[in-house]
Amino acid sequence: MHSDTEFDLTIRNGRISTASDTFHADIGVRDGIIAAVGRGLPAGRRDIDAQGRWVLPGGIDSHCHVEQLSGMGVMCADDFYSATVSAAFGGTTTIIPFAAQHRGNALPEVVADYHRRAAEKAVIDYGFHLILSDPTEQALQHDLPAIIRDGITSFKVFMTYDRMKLDDYQLLDVLDVADREGALVMVHAENNDMIRWIARRLVERGLTAPKYHAVAHTPLAESEATHRAVALARLMDVPLLIVHVAGLEAVRVVHSSQALGLPILAESCPQYLFLTADDLDLPGVEGAKYCCSPPPRDAASQAAVWAGLLDGTLQMYSSDHAPYRFDASGKLPKGDQTTFKDMANGVPGLELRMPLLFSEGVLTGRMSIERFVAVTATNHARTYGLYPRKGTIAVGTDADLAIWNPDREVHVTASMLHDQVGYTPYESRTLRGWPETVISRGRVAVDEGLLHVERGSGRFLKRGTPEPVLRQRLNGNPDAILRTHLRPR
Ligand code: URP
Ligand code: ZN
Ligand code: ZN
Repeated sequence: MHSDTEFDLTIRNGRISTASDTFHADIGVRDGIIAAVGRGLPAGRRDIDAQGRWVLPGGIDSHCHVEQLSGMGVMCADDFYSATVSAAFGGTTTIIPFAAQHRGNALPEVVADYHRRAAEKAVIDYGFHLILSDPTEQALQHDLPAIIRDGITSFKVFMTYDRMKLDDYQLLDVLDVADREGALVMVHAENNDMIRWIARRLVERGLTAPKYHAVAHTPLAESEATHRAVALARLMDVPLLIVHVAGLEAVRVVHSSQALGLPILAESCPQYLFLTADDLDLPGVEGAKYCCSPPPRDAASQAAVWAGLLDGTLQMYSSDHAPYRFDASGKLPKGDQTTFKDMANGVPGLELRMPLLFSEGVLTGRMSIERFVAVTATNHARTYGLYPRKGTIAVGTDADLAIWNPDREVHVTASMLHDQVGYTPYESRTLRGWPETVISRGRVAVDEGLLHVERGSGRFLKRGTPEPVLRQRLNGNPDAILRTHLRPR
C-alpha cells in the first residue's frame, strides 16, 4: 500500500510534448495512471531522470498484421509476443492489429480465436479491427453488431485481393451497418481488375521480377478505387478511412473530398515516406523485401505523402507491419523462381515506424514534435475510440510513455530488431533519436535495451465509438439522398 501522495513512478525534468503543447514538467504515476503533471513532484518509488530527453505519449500503431493469414493465405512471421515486443522497443505502447475473417469463417469464432492468442502473448495493450471478407446476412445483421458492442468498433474491407475483395454492393451494405451500429470502415482501395489485367500480361511476357509488382499495382488502380470508395461513402453519408495511401493522385482524391466537407480520413506509412518503386528493382528476387500493396511509388508521391501528413490531409501514420520472411514461408514460395504475383505482400515496420519519422521528420525540422505526437499516437486514439485513455499525456490517462533521447544515433540492422522477419527495408540507415525507455500502463516495459514485461501482460482494449462517427452523427448531411429517403435518423 502507498499513501495518496506517493507515486509508483516519477519521471522528472523531461521535455513533455502532446499533440498541442510542449513544456517541461515531471510526471507522477500511480496504479498505471498518470496521477500528476507538474514541477517539483515528490519522489516516486521509482524515479527516472529525463533531463535532456523528450517524454512523449507511447505510440499507437493502428495498422499492423499480427499472427494473421494474409489475403493470399500466408501466415505472418510475428505472433502476438514478438510483434508487441518489437512495437515496445520502437516506442509503441498500443497496437490495433486485425482479427481477419476469411471466406466461410464465422465471425464470432474468428474474434474469439484472436482474443485467445493475443491474451496469451501480448506484452502491451491491444485492440482489434475486424477484417470482413464475407458479409453474409448473418454477419451483417447479427455478428457485426455484437462485435461492435464488444469494443471492436472498426473494420477493414478490401477492394482487391481475389480472396478478400468485396464488390461495390457489398461495400454499401457494410457502410450501412457501420452507420447503424456506430463503427468506422477502413478500406484498402485498389482496383482489382486493373491489377489482375496488367499482371497477367506482364507474366505472359516473362516480366516477373519484383519490380513489376509496382507496375501491376499502377497508381491509377489506387486513385480510381479511392475515388470510388469515397463516392460510396458519400452516397451513404458516412465517414470512411482510406488506409495506406501511397500515391500522389490518391492523396489528391482524399484532399479534394475533404475540401468538399466529406468525412474522409486517411493514413499513410513509412514505406511511402522512405521508399520508392526503385527499391523493388534489385537483382534476382531481392526486391521482394520491399514489395507491399500499394507499392512505394516515386519522389513526387513521397513528397505528396509528406505534405499530406504535415497539412492534415493524412491524419495517421501507421506501420502496416505485414511481416513475411525472405524464404518459402513468406516472400519466396517458389524460391528464386517466385514471380511478383506469388510473393506475400507486405513489409515490416512496427519497431522502426516512430524512430524513422522522429529522425527524418522531427529532427530535420520538417515536422513539429506536436504533429509527430498527433500522427503517431493522438489521432489514432481519437479516430478509433481510445481517447483520452490512450494517446496523450494528462492526469487520469494511462501512463503509456516513451522517453526519447534526441542525441542517440542508431545504425539500423535487422539483427537489432525484435521482430521475426530477419530483414528490414531500412537496413544500414543511420537514425537520430531513440525511445530508450518505454512505459506501458506505468510499467517500465523497455529500458537500457532490455524488456521488463511479461508475456500475456498486455490487455485488450474495448474501444468506444470512433470520433469521426460521433461527429458525423451530429453533423451529417441531412440532404443526402439516402438520409432523406431511406435512413432518416
Ligand atoms: O502489402 C500489404 N499492405 N500487406 C498487408 C495487407 C494490407 O493490405 O494491408
Ligand atoms: Zn491493405
Ligand atoms: Zn495492412
